[in-house]
Parts: sequence; C-alpha cells; structure tokens
Amino acid sequence: MTGPSSKSLRRSVFIREFIKNPFKVGACAPSGKHLARAMVKEIDPGRDQVIVEYGPGTGAFTDEIMPRLTPRHHYFAVELTPAFADVLRQRHPRAHIHTGSVANIEHFLREEGLPDRDSIDLIISGLPWASFPEDLQRSILDPMKRVLKPGGKLVTFGYHIGKAMSNGRLFYRTLPEYFSSVHQSPLVWRNIWPAWVFTCTK
Ligand SMILES: C[S@@+](CC[C@H](N)C(=O)[O-])C[C@H]1O[C@@H](n2cnc3c(N)ncnc32)[C@H](O)[C@@H]1O
Repeated sequence: MTGPSSKSLRRSVFIREFIKNPFKVGACAPSGKHLARAMVKEIDPGRDQVIVEYGPGTGAFTDEIMPRLTPRHHYFAVELTPAFADVLRQRHPRAHIHTGSVANIEHFLREEGLPDRDSIDLIISGLPWASFPEDLQRSILDPMKRVLKPGGKLVTFGYHIGKAMSNGRLFYRTLPEYFSSVHQSPLVWRNIWPAWVFTCTK
C-alpha cells in the first residue's frame, strides 16, 4: 500500500481521529520526513537491539524504521488508537503492531517473548507528552524506566509550541528525574510544527 492515495487516506484517518480525541492524538497532521529521519538515528545496524515504537500513529516514523531493521533487531510497536493500528498493519504487514497503551509495556514485552524488565535498548516515541497531565506522563515513564536496559535510550520529540503549554514544560523538567542524560537537538524547522528531538539515556 504505497503512493499518493494511501498517503491521503492516512492523512484523512489522522485528521478524523484528531477531531475525535485531540489530547490523545496531540497533533493535527503526521510528522514530516525531516523529523522522522532525526528520530531514527539511534538505530544501529551493527548491534543487537530491541527497539519499541511508542504511539506510531499512521506510521510517519515506522516508514523510516522498517528499512533500517536487520536480523539483529527485534522491533514492535504499541498504538492506542485502533484505527491507526489497522492502517499501520496494512502498510507494514511484517511489523508487530500491538493495540493498547504503552503504560502496559510489560504486558506487551511478555507477549513478544521478552523479559518484562531491562530488555529494551531503544524506544522511539511519537507520544504527545505536552497534551498529557502529570499523572499520565508518570504512568508511562515509570514502567519505561523499568523496561529500558541500563544505557538504553528514549528518543522522543517535543513541538516548539509545546514549551508554551504547562504540561509540555512539566515534561521537559521531569525527564532528568528518569534519565542520567538528556540531549536536545537543534530545532527541526521543516516540520509542522517545528520540533526538537530529545535523546535520553537511562
Ligand atoms: C502525535 S501522534 C504521533 C504519530 C506519529 N508517530 C507521527 O509522528 O506522525 C501521537 C500518537 O500517540 C498515540 N498514543 C497516545 N497515547 C498513547 C498511549 N498511552 N499508548 C500508545 N499510543 C498512544 C496516539 O494514538 C497517536 O497515534
């Protein structure tokens, strides 16, 4: 399923789901190519890596992840919105897409046959943190810390305008509580909206 028609279908599903639930989806359009390429830089073809995508939506980052995977990688994704998970399964039939919340990541690790602690090398997250209140942010970050290996990484993004939102500022302040280092990229301007990429190491 490639080409312009699938792209317009994905866009219309995205907008429809955003109108239904703006805080869960958190953006009115999928991320662009420039942001997606900046999000996948920690995928290393020369290393064994367990890679999990949080909140793939209609697959803006998945499209960049899939061609980079080698037999040394174990990849799966967890998406809360069933309509997005359906689109993604059609677009990437070889990817394991679980429907549910990443707050239950330990459950999905067990379903993948992986230990539910210290087993993930890399999380690539599309979650809209600035739309999430503190209790929801922590209900995702607490299990994330348990399942990342020591030295494991979270790569996530934040919109420039997210800094104007109190939950966005809260998220940036909270990250150092969970990670030993947090690196912020230069602003990726060619995206609606411009965004930073945060690479956080446990
Ligand atoms: C801003 S969209 C990003 C989609 C895509 N990664 C992109 O950048 O275009 C956020 C996605 O996170 C999903 N999401 C929100 N809360 C979630 C949760 N608790 N568990 C899994 N996915 C979640 C939404 O359904 C939506 O698909």
